Formats: sequence, C-alpha cells, structure tokens
Amino acid sequence: MRILLIGPPGAGKGTQAVRLAAHLSIQHISTGDLFREHIGQGTDLGQNAHTHIHAGLLVPDEVTIGMINERLARPDTERGFLLDGFPRNCVQARALDGILADSDSKLDAVLDLEIPEDQVVGRISGRRLCRQNHEHIFHVDHSPPEVAGVCDLCGGGLYQREDDREATVRQRLEVYRTETAPVVGHYRAQGVATTIPAHGQVQDVLNRALDAIGRGQADAAGTSS
Ligand code: AP5
Ligand code: MG
Repeated sequence: MRILLIGPPGAGKGTQAVRLAAHLSIQHISTGDLFREHIGQGTDLGQNAHTHIHAGLLVPDEVTIGMINERLARPDTERGFLLDGFPRNCVQARALDGILADSDSKLDAVLDLEIPEDQVVGRISGRRLCRQNHEHIFHVDHSPPEVAGVCDLCGGGLYQREDDREATVRQRLEVYRTETAPVVGHYRAQGVATTIPAHGQVQDVLNRALDAIGRGQADAAGTSS
C-alpha cells in the first residue's frame, strides 16, 4: 500500500506512522526524520535544512523533493510506503503525482489527521524523542518512559526537539494552515483523502486509521482482528 499522513505539528503523524507501517509491513518515510538525520550527520543538506527548521519554515521544495525522489527510488519501497510529512504544499503534491506516474503507481489512501490546536500544544510540549532512533516517541504524561530521560526500546537518551519551542511551534502551525492544509483538497479531488479524528487514545486513532483503509482493527499487541 502507498499511504500519506497529513496533519498539523503534534497531530500524532509519527506515532501513528510507526504503528501503521509495522502493521502493514511497509516503509515509514518521514521527511522530518530524514532532515534530522542529515543535521545529525552534518551534511550540506542538513545544514541547509537546519536554518529553515529552526525558524519553523518549510525546507525549500527543490531540496525536499530531491531527497524524497531519491528515497522512493530505493528497492525497499516496492512493497509500499507510508509518507509522514510529505507533501507539505501543492508544489510538492504535484511533484509526487509525477514521481508516482513515472513508476506507474498511485496512492491508496491519504489520511488527514484532525486535532484541535489546544491539544497539539500539550502534545508537543511534553514530547521526548530518542537520540538513537527518531521513531521512538514518548510523552512525559501520555506515554512516559519507565526511566525518565531513557528510551524503553533501546536505552538511548531522550531529548526535546529544538523546533518544539513555543514561538517556533506557533510558526509551524501557521505554515500548516496556509501551505499544508490546502494539500488535503488536492487529494480530495483525486478521491483518496479521508479525515481521521486524531483525539483520544493512540490505539483508538490507530483503529480509526485502519478502518479508513479497510484493514480492520488492531489490538494493543498490534495484531489484526
Ligand atoms: P516534522 O518532523 O514532520 O514535524 P511536524 O509536521 O511539525 O510534526 P511533528 O513531528 O511535530 O508531530 P507529529 O504529528 O509527528 O506528532 P507525534 O507523533 O510526534 O517536520 C519538522 C520540520 O521539518 C518542519 O517544520 C519543516 O521545517 C521540515 N519539513 C519536514 N517535512 C517537510 C517538507 N515536506 N517540506 C518542507 N519542509 C519539511 O506526537 C506528538 C506528541 O504527542 C508525542 O509526544 C506523542 O507521544 C504524543 N501523542 C501522539 N498521539 C497521541 C494521542 N493519541 N494521545 C496523547 N498523546 C499523543
Ligand atoms: Mg513527526
């Protein structure tokens, strides 16, 4: 399957993407995580991206589209992929249309995670990420690690993202409203977009997403019913 997750910062895209990708045995590709890897490795791309991410702005399209083009060309995406955080404006959406058309493939579903802004702020301010694996996401109240500051899954140190400062989050929300929200309309016109309420327990949101793509429900262990 080829799936996109769209939603404002803190909607739970990363949290759901990890679970959906494992459940469906497809690759989870997060542009935010790819940029953070580049930043961590000190590449030129990472240095360019850092300036924009730090300011709460989108990384320029030519950089982002080039990075995704290269990632989707790798053989591990042949079984399918779940894109988290791309496309984030209509230029990127049209570029993805072109990439998919070139490989004679199409999207199966676009899941639009909908969440009130006041909940987003609480989720982002309590978020902690693992330094060793950005897919290991915690929250100091909603999903705390057993030992404060230590990842339950791999023992890595937990940290707070630099762009999760309040002023930067406000800027990211503004970019979402003006540039990313219109992308949902692009996919509605293609008949593949479904809005999923993203409030409530992580497991409930996961089940709504699985329902939307016709894959039944998952229990807490992640198995289908
Ligand atoms: P990116 O890393 O994609 O950030 P984002 O879109 O702002 O989204 P977040 O990662 O902040 O939130 P999320 O929805 O993944 O929530 P999460 O699951 O962590 O992008 C960062 C930056 O990179 C951008 O600002 C931009 O500069 C650049 N960039 C990325 N893609 C780009 C592109 N295509 N073009 C240009 N620039 C690009 O959950 C948040 C917290 O809530 C966690 O603590 C989690 O534990 C908790 N939580 C999740 N679900 C629940 C629940 N149901 N109940 C309670 N708590 C929950
Ligand atoms: Mg994320």
